[in-house]
Amino acid sequence: MLIAHVSDPHLTADGAPMHGVVDTDTALARVVADINALDPLPGVALVTGDLTHDGDAAAAARAAAMLSALRMPWFAVPGNHDRRDAVRAACGPYPGDAAAAWMAYAVDGFPLRLLALDATTGDPFRAAMPPAQLAWLADRLAEAPERPVLAFLHHPPFDTGIGWLDEMGIAEGRHELGVLLRRHAAVAVLCGHLHHPMRGAWHGVPVLAAPSVANRTMLSGRGTGLETVAVSAPPGYVLHRWDAAAKTLTSELRFLDGHAEDWRRARPDPAP
Ligand SMILES: [Fe+2]
Repeated sequence: MLIAHVSDPHLTADGAPMHGVVDTDTALARVVADINALDPLPGVALVTGDLTHDGDAAAAARAAAMLSALRMPWFAVPGNHDRRDAVRAACGPYPGDAAAAWMAYAVDGFPLRLLALDATTGDPFRAAMPPAQLAWLADRLAEAPERPVLAFLHHPPFDTGIGWLDEMGIAEGRHELGVLLRRHAAVAVLCGHLHHPMRGAWHGVPVLAAPSVANRTMLSGRGTGLETVAVSAPPGYVLHRWDAAAKTLTSELRFLDGHAEDWRRARPDPAP
């Protein structure tokens, strides 16, 4: 099972460049085209939030329209830049999420059970995992204890060591979330928000943060007095592969800088 993991497209309402410089529409279109050209094709795509830059319903609708060009089912969760109701209206509702205050739902029918979680609060600088959503998650895990679970949400559940990012992290319910997912031996948690590829282990559960399809935050400024040092990079996404027999998840970062197209034209070489 191949899973395309797309995050943080940050579309603007009218398609104008984000911050006046980042062409987010083109970046998302390129990522969608790259995923659609994969052989074999992924079975599902997951979008871990910030479909929009300013929360606009028009931007969410345009993001949904562009993502609907994907040749496989796709599922989204809101990010801190989104308005949850706009994302739900454009992308959902998904089974089970319609009545909840948050946008969390289970997706069955794949070798992995996909559990969408939502730590957004309406305040872009505050995230939380409310007790009611933790109870909902506990029920989902209890109803299928043998099924391998892949959870996805916008906010990474770990601290990065980058102060301004960690201040926007999940302030409540994070420990309880980790206990639940560890107890179930969740395969991994997929997230975004950082605009930088990062991995972590949290409560013994692997966490994989995808890059933004649109722009990149370099988090390499530690010790320099600069926590963020660059905002430009090729569009990218992550391709995950779940081997059900081996119970193994492998994850490949893909950046679109022309090389992917070159590789397709090149003759296969048996050597790595
Ligand atoms: Fe973002």
